[in-house]
Amino acid sequence: MNLKLRDADEYDRHLIWSIRNEPEVREASFNTNEIPWEDHKKWYARALGNENIIMYMIELDEIPIGTIRFDREDNLTTVSIAISSGFRGMNYGSAALRMACEKYRAEHPRANILAYIKCGNVKSTFAFIKAGFISQGIEIISGEPSYHFEYETPLK
Ligand SMILES: CC(C)(COP(=O)(O)OP(=O)(O)OC[C@H]1O[C@@H](n2cnc3c(N)ncnc32)[C@H](O)[C@@H]1OP(=O)(O)O)[C@@H](O)C(=O)NCCC(=O)NCCS
Repeated sequence: MNLKLRDADEYDRHLIWSIRNEPEVREASFNTNEIPWEDHKKWYARALGNENIIMYMIELDEIPIGTIRFDREDNLTTVSIAISSGFRGMNYGSAALRMACEKYRAEHPRANILAYIKCGNVKSTFAFIKAGFISQGIEIISGEPSYHFEYETPLK
């Protein structure tokens, strides 16, 4: 398997939109509404120009199969991931997550990487644990009981 990450660019706009709107991805999100194309276009243009948002495409043998995003606020960075439906459950999500976190940590050594995962999202919970995330407990996020995960040992 040749799994790689590359920076997302303007040509990934439509693919990221369609992945974000897959039913399981909406279900995993805290805002479960479908994302209109016009809203995505505006959001994407802002996201590409925002140094606090880092987006990678996950490629398997040069084919994009998913995306990972880091949203940074001060020294706290929240990560989210989505793999296209046909490629889930084959270890790509956890492997890509680990690769992306290592890369992000190397480039931002002081960043703590965290994720909030809805407690009902079993696949994602396992994928984050396999990637090296450690549960810090359950918190209510947007009304949803969610695991608060931190990547490996949080930095002080
Ligand atoms: C979450 C997501 C990225 C995980 O990627 P993936 O490639 O499917 O995950 P992996 O194959 O690496 O790992 C999934 C793990 O969950 C396990 N799993 C899957 N379904 C499960 C279930 N119903 N019960 C228990 N374990 C389950 C798998 O067996 C695997 O663990 P294992 O290899 O130890 O057996 C992907 O499923 C996805 O895009 N989901 C929709 C979006 C989402 O939920 N994003 C996360 C919120 S940010």
